[in-house]
Amino acid sequence: MKRPYSFTMNFCNSSLLLAVFLLLNMIAFSQDVITVRAGSPGAVINKNIYGHFSEHLGHCIYNGFYVGDTNKTIPNTAGVRNDVIAALRKLKIPLLRWPGGCFADTYHWKDGIGPKDKRPTIVNKWWGGVTEDNSFGTHDFLNMCEELGAEPYLCGNVGSGTVQELADWVQYTTFDGKSPMSDLRRANGREKPWNVKYWGIGNEAWGCGGNMRPEYYADNFRKYVNFMGGNVFRIASGASSSDYQWTETLMKNIPTYLIDGIGMHHYAVIDWDHKSSATNFTEQQYFTTMQRALLMEEYVTKHSAIMDKYDSAKKVALVVDEWGGWYDVEPGTNPGFLFQQNTMRDAMIAGVTLNIFNNHCDRVRMANLAQTINVLQAVILTDKEKIILTPTYHVMEMYNVHQDATLLPVSVKTTDYTLNNEKLPAISASASKDKNGAMHISVVNIDAEKKQDVTINVEGATFKTITGRLLSSPKIQDHNTFDNPEKVKPSSFTGFRYTGNSVSMQLPPASVVVLEVK
Ligand code: AHR
Repeated sequence: MKRPYSFTMNFCNSSLLLAVFLLLNMIAFSQDVITVRAGSPGAVINKNIYGHFSEHLGHCIYNGFYVGDTNKTIPNTAGVRNDVIAALRKLKIPLLRWPGGCFADTYHWKDGIGPKDKRPTIVNKWWGGVTEDNSFGTHDFLNMCEELGAEPYLCGNVGSGTVQELADWVQYTTFDGKSPMSDLRRANGREKPWNVKYWGIGNEAWGCGGNMRPEYYADNFRKYVNFMGGNVFRIASGASSSDYQWTETLMKNIPTYLIDGIGMHHYAVIDWDHKSSATNFTEQQYFTTMQRALLMEEYVTKHSAIMDKYDSAKKVALVVDEWGGWYDVEPGTNPGFLFQQNTMRDAMIAGVTLNIFNNHCDRVRMANLAQTINVLQAVILTDKEKIILTPTYHVMEMYNVHQDATLLPVSVKTTDYTLNNEKLPAISASASKDKNGAMHISVVNIDAEKKQDVTINVEGATFKTITGRLLSSPKIQDHNTFDNPEKVKPSSFTGFRYTGNSVSMQLPPASVVVLEVK
């Protein structure tokens, strides 16, 4: 009688043990492991990787940044919204690109100086065909940058402008001595030059900037920079996504002493003809957007490898001066204004992309999210006197601890995020050490459904305290609205344990965590 019983017990015991063993194995195999090599620091993460972009497009400038200097209903400083200034200062915005984009190659800067009531109008041919009254011009932008504590990055007009026009703009904005352009600046009320170091020589010269071939553009670049003057940082209009031929031709035909940066644009778009709603999307559409965003790793790696062939000293920066998610415009809005909402999907794009830039900071030394307010993957949305900060804003704010910190290389062993037989790495990470010795580790779990058990092993460091911040929300479609502006916002993260130099934590689905390790 006993035997069968004891046999059953044994059988139960062994199946229980087997189940526990399998479970432990599953946990062991499903665990993500991040190794931070704190003893082998890399390059400095240039704060300009956290740059932004403002174009005369839709409501980015007008009714976004600028509400007019006679506006009495929305508090402003020289026409720029005070709430926007405060939010961008908190973000530690380091750099702002202007006036485009495609708009830049239609813009004649002299239209935007002098008395506002005398400025000519133009038609904004790329963005909705609306009348541009030029009330926001060079002084307004550069004064605004000073107010924000951000460096300006001006994009010159190569498509429909002239060499002389760009040379005059450089002289107008940067020359301290006496000259026709600096005298004109003084006559317009600004005695001292501004600090304008970064200059783009046209935008998307292969497309809206002039439909040029790379050889033709390279020759134009050489001519423009020859006459620009000033002690400036010269950025060539770069490739779209995987157009390696463009980068190769520019690097081959422009000597490195004439160029400081070469651009690259990449948007996470599902399909240019079927982009999907910004808020009402399926998990498959989310997955595809993540695939497109993660392509940034391949593009940055391959463009950098081409640049290495001609510039092994890495003197020329790779400047990703447009990036972000691009969806259908919000229903009922002007299709030419590119106004879209911003969800946890965008937070995921921001998190993984910034990790990629951090990890490639030896070559990627500037980037500009498109675009700051009310356009594409915006950090701020406005509606008359109301303002909301988007999930993307919160990621950029959480990540600003990496600005000008030293990269700590990471390797990531990640489980897969699988959907319909396709897979992506669930976890992405980057780490840095700041000037005060604090280490920051940013980790993203893009899996829309599964939590991730993550172990972080830090080699070559000892630490005493860890604090964390988390951005997550129950659904990937979650977003902030003018009626519910704080639905998605960071919270303090305590879901970790640590012993020695090892941290274990569980990341919720579709979440971003930034740890501070001291
Ligand atoms: O960011 C919107 C547009 O996208 C820019 O004007 C252009 O450079 C790009 O094609």
